[in-house]
Amino acid sequence: MGISECEACHGNHKILAPSDSMLGTQESAVCIQCHEARSEPYQLASRIKARLDEFVSKIGDVENSLDKADRRGVDVSDPRFKLREAKTSLILVRNLTHTLDLSEVEKKIEEGKRVAAEVKAEGEAALKEARFRKGGLIITTLFILLLAIAIFLKIKQIEKKSPA
Ligand code: HEC
Ligand code: HEC
Repeated sequence: MGISECEACHGNHKILAPSDSMLGTQESAVCIQCHEARSEPYQLASRIKARLDEFVSKIGDVENSLDKADRRGVDVSDPRFKLREAKTSLILVRNLTHTLDLSEVEKKIEEGKRVAAEVKAEGEAALKEARFRKGGLIITTLFILLLAIAIFLKIKQIEKKSPA
């Protein structure tokens, strides 16, 4: 039986859409159908799955923080666009699992995680800047208010001094 045959893992019926749960050593994983616990392929399946899960949750994490910034009215369209790059890496990683080559998979995942980290930093910077601007606006408003009061008092003073 050739391991390259799609049916070996995907089944004859092709009803099931491929998903991350096919990979790994949990009950839903196809790998355990043929590979015994603690065998090398089994361990590799477990490691690839762990890395993949980490990557997926990292992307979710970054997406959450962009959503949070979005809800506060911060423009995060640039980081969001860049996040697509990380998501593309995820698609490639899912396909790379076919190579059963951990180092190839890890390389791609590291690449994607680096992009995700950059996106997160950009999102946080945008949020910080928005907070800073809001703080600045409050200070400016207070300053203008104080100025208005001072001018008002000055006018009163001048009015008092000048003979009616
Ligand atoms: C060793 C088992 C195995 C074999 C053999 C295999 N696949 Fe897969 N395939 C998987 C696993 C596991 C996934 C799920 C990867 C994921 O989404 O994390 C997958 C996912 C996919 C996906 C979806 C990728 C994505 O973007 O989510 C496609 C398409 C696919 N396989 C096609 C094929 C084809 C075509 C063949 C035959 C040439 C094949 N597979 C052979 C295990 C296998
Ligand atoms: C239908 C049975 C079957 C399934 C399902 C299956 N394998 Fe295999 N696998 C084999 C066979 C047969 C070989 C080749 C014989 C050997 O080297 O033990 C092999 C070899 C391997 C090897 C070593 C050879 C290589 O190419 O480096 C790895 C690693 C491996 N499988 C991982 C996986 C992973 C991960 C999964 C789940 C996504 C999986 N296998 C699912 C049958 C299967």
